[in-house]
Amino acid sequence: MNKIILGVTGSIAAYKSLALVRLLVKAGNEVKVIMTPAATAFVAPLSFSTLSKNDVIIELIDDTNWNNHVELGLWADAFVIAPATATTLSKLASGQSDNMIVATYLSAKCPVFFAPAMDLDMWKHPATQSNIKKLQSYGNHMIPVGHGELASGLVGEGRMAEPEDIVAFLNSHSKKKADLAGKKVLITAGPTREAIDPVRYISNHSTGRMGIELAEECVSRGASVDLILGPTVLKASHPAIRTTNVSSAQEMYEACREIFASSDIAIFAAAVADYTPENTSDIKIKKKAGDMDIALKRTPDIAAQMGDLKRKDQINVGFALETNNGEVNAKRKLDKKNFDLIVLNSLKDKGAGFKHNTNKVTIYQRGGTSQSYPLKSKRAVAADIMDTIVPLTTK
Ligand code: C5P
Repeated sequence: MNKIILGVTGSIAAYKSLALVRLLVKAGNEVKVIMTPAATAFVAPLSFSTLSKNDVIIELIDDTNWNNHVELGLWADAFVIAPATATTLSKLASGQSDNMIVATYLSAKCPVFFAPAMDLDMWKHPATQSNIKKLQSYGNHMIPVGHGELASGLVGEGRMAEPEDIVAFLNSHSKKKADLAGKKVLITAGPTREAIDPVRYISNHSTGRMGIELAEECVSRGASVDLILGPTVLKASHPAIRTTNVSSAQEMYEACREIFASSDIAIFAAAVADYTPENTSDIKIKKKAGDMDIALKRTPDIAAQMGDLKRKDQINVGFALETNNGEVNAKRKLDKKNFDLIVLNSLKDKGAGFKHNTNKVTIYQRGGTSQSYPLKSKRAVAADIMDTIVPLTTK
């Protein structure tokens, strides 16, 4: 990518687009910013013009000038609309060309990316979702929203993707990497739930984000992806990702057994519960005076069992989440579970592990090579992991 138009619309997330301009310019792109009048209430055009080193266009016609949206649309290699509000999505989907962003969008011949930003309920509304589907059916690319605290105070989906994730998304497109074309990838992600009775369960803090980002990265690089996902509020957004939702370790194991033999690459990113209650009660267990013991039995070690079944032409990848002795434990698991490589993340590292959108990993390969990476967004970590796996598939 070289010449980028950034469309900024009226959302509080517009402040993040300043960082986005900075990242894009730093990476050597020329950026021209178009704002809707509503966006100027959130961030001053001067901030964008200073960072992009180009004038900011706001109106279709200012004073005596008609801004040539046709020329601008033809100039760009990519058009990124971030943040894209519910109103803008609706206007783009219906072609309501009453501002410079929509007019340029209708004229653009380049790939178009939009990063939605809105409140949870607006995001979930069928009107918004149908506008997004319509835009995707026209060949535009949605940069997935994040999950977390929203400006309204609600918590859920609807946050605009972080600037570095937007850049990673654009990069994975611009490189037009198709280095996983024809490959079948199986990914486990999320926690498992081990039922004690119909009301209670044993689980862990995994959100599944790392595995979901891997699925998105693989599919964007041409792979056919099966995601076996434990219970989580997150979901994959790319329509080509086949998700099988499971709950317990046993269910995750059975889903993997079905698919493993036909996969070229299997990535075990799930935080599988190691123990499950020996007996699950059909009815809610009543509390009694005194303490209570629950007898636990081991769950199937999915990665280890798939490691036993692994053929020479298959690549298995594991994760190790450690609090101490990271390297020793990771290397032990690499051997024990017959992985080709293992990704170590330590809960000691700030911003790594559960509940973060970022991760800091070291990748250990069979044969002794290892590489440590700085703290990055989970999408960027997913790209690093796939960059390490791809050369192994051609051996
Ligand atoms: O032994 P530990 O649970 O730390 O190993 C972590 C690796 O093994 C991860 O890749 C995880 O997805 C996988 N695993 C599994 N099934 C289990 C336990 C772990 O697939 N029951």
